[in-house]
Amino acid sequence: MVISGARGIGKTALLTELEDIAATRGWIVLRASGRDNPVADLTDTVIPGKILELDPPSRRKVSGVSIAGLGSVSTSTSDPLQPVPTINTRLRELLALLEGTGVLITVDEIQDADAEDITRLAVAYQDLVRDRMEVSLVVAGLPFGTDRLLNLPGTTFLRRAERYDLGPLTDEDAGDVIRHTTDGSGIEFTPEAVETAVDIAEGYPYLVQLIGYLCWETAQRKERTVIEAADVDRERSEAVQSMGAQVHFISLKEVPAGQRRYLSAMAELGDGPQSTADVAEALGKTTGSTSDVRARLIERDLIQPAGRGKVEFTLPHLGEWLRGPGTVRRVQ
Ligand SMILES: Nc1ncnc2c1ncn2[C@@H]1O[C@H](COP(=O)(O)OP(=O)(O)OP(=O)(O)O)[C@@H](O)[C@H]1O
Ligand SMILES: [Mg+2]
Repeated sequence: MVISGARGIGKTALLTELEDIAATRGWIVLRASGRDNPVADLTDTVIPGKILELDPPSRRKVSGVSIAGLGSVSTSTSDPLQPVPTINTRLRELLALLEGTGVLITVDEIQDADAEDITRLAVAYQDLVRDRMEVSLVVAGLPFGTDRLLNLPGTTFLRRAERYDLGPLTDEDAGDVIRHTTDGSGIEFTPEAVETAVDIAEGYPYLVQLIGYLCWETAQRKERTVIEAADVDRERSEAVQSMGAQVHFISLKEVPAGQRRYLSAMAELGDGPQSTADVAEALGKTTGSTSDVRARLIERDLIQPAGRGKVEFTLPHLGEWLRGPGTVRRVQ
């Protein structure tokens, strides 16, 4: 399964949920991240760890003897003919210890993974599936980077995976999250307050969580039991500022100056979809000459096409943040 979606949309939360379901059913969960070296990490650390857990060395010796039927011969690691373990052999070793259950491998932040690493993982996975081994692979990452990886020659197999692109929450779901989370906490949102919070969150899980937290904290500090719409409104700028510092600032870090100028020009034109011609004009350029910059920004998942000749910011409040501080707050 391939899960893709914008920053903070809930990919990691969903991966964790899937891991929990697998674990509840007795599956072994192997977790890796594209930020480290997922294949080396799985081969050298994660899988050996699980094998040790399932089959401590004392027990292994006995079972090794009975299977091999060779008397006292044991599989010593100093054997010069011992093949170097690969992700494939390690997984087979682990799977051999399981009965009636399987292995779930999850790789988060796949967009940062090395292409060669993902190819190796895909090849091993395909090999195990061909032998009808009980193994599942779920990867999650930002849309563009994930697509890039899945378009490599070695990962063809993954292209046929089930693909889920996470979109924003519906307003109804966002409202439910806020209501259910505060239920029974002694502090309630009025229906209008929920509506205001839902407006600020724009279906973005990170913001639902953040605005809910800010309002609840303030109410608790002031010893209030009800959160009103005006209270939510007062937390708005704090939410935008936090979102800027925690999400936008990070995603803008390596964006070159030319692309930054395009984003700023878009922000100055206002929120919502903007015509690419207007953005180009604001930059004193022709639409054609800005198409490359625009394509790079779409690749970075910072903006997205919004109908004919228009683009919009992918994440909520980026425009507002760029018009405001556009950087993290400095504290003395
Ligand atoms: N379905 C959901 N309902 C409520 N809150 C959610 C949901 N999914 C995610 N969240 C919250 O949203 C925030 C961001 O989620 P998460 O870290 O999973 O996003 P992500 O897509 O992995 O982000 P990144 O691209 O930065 O890794 C977290 O605080 C999480 O608790
Ligand atoms: Mg994540």
